[in-house]
Amino acid sequence: MQARPLEIRNLRFDLGAAVPRHWHGGRRSLTAFFDGLSIFFPEGERFFVKSVRAHAKVVKDPALKRDVNGFCGQEGIHSREHERYNEMLRAKGYPVDELERKVARILAVVSRVLPERLQLAATCALEHFTALMGHMLLGDPRLLAGAHPEMATLWRWHAAEENEHKSLAFDVYLAAGGNDLERSAVMLAATVIFWAKVLEHQARFMAADGVAFSPREWWALGWFLFGDPGGMRRLIPLYLQYYRPGFHPRDIDDGGLLDAWRAAYEVAAKAA
Ligand SMILES: [Fe+2]
Ligand SMILES: [Fe+2]
Repeated sequence: MQARPLEIRNLRFDLGAAVPRHWHGGRRSLTAFFDGLSIFFPEGERFFVKSVRAHAKVVKDPALKRDVNGFCGQEGIHSREHERYNEMLRAKGYPVDELERKVARILAVVSRVLPERLQLAATCALEHFTALMGHMLLGDPRLLAGAHPEMATLWRWHAAEENEHKSLAFDVYLAAGGNDLERSAVMLAATVIFWAKVLEHQARFMAADGVAFSPREWWALGWFLFGDPGGMRRLIPLYLQYYRPGFHPRDIDDGGLLDAWRAAYEVAAKAA
């Protein structure tokens, strides 16, 4: 259960021609990293919603029931906006259709072969990644410094809401009788598959820009993620916490990051 009801913010971003191809300060490999992540979201978040809804019947707690609806609402808007984001990428000539199709194929296999509770465990694992990456984006303004303002706003909004609902799927999984061993095993598999796909998307986006074999571009990305500012490096211990028996997503304190984002969001909403 969340400390407060999940707010569904029906935001619509201006993802037209004003957004430059390399919107992250002209940095190609870094823009490709974010764009490659966006490929996952429309299908991925529909899968999250489906796996949570499939367990709605085991949720007895009224506040948790309420939050299931909030979660589905938030993820529904994320799916819609990332569909629009991916449309923008398609228009720029990136291989969006093929990559989205491949993600959909994996999720279709998972939906067909895994029992429903394991599908929910997969959602919990992937929600841990989205929450951690959101934690990283909210916690270090340097990670979106130089980005086109609309894109920075979109990513911060998504980052914040991923943190707001980070324990929802997990709480439903616990209500469904999930356990540490099962979710840890699923996390291991999800880690391998997800990061292999991240790498594939990265290479394909860079290939579309003609820099797939540019050591400079790969170095720039690696240094940004693991060196300076190095957001990913700091996530590794938080990722590993997932394997600890009794772990709960709320154990990772957001350090007031969400409150700061909400305050900035409300000021911007009033000014708009
Ligand atoms: Fe989301
Ligand atoms: Fe999420």
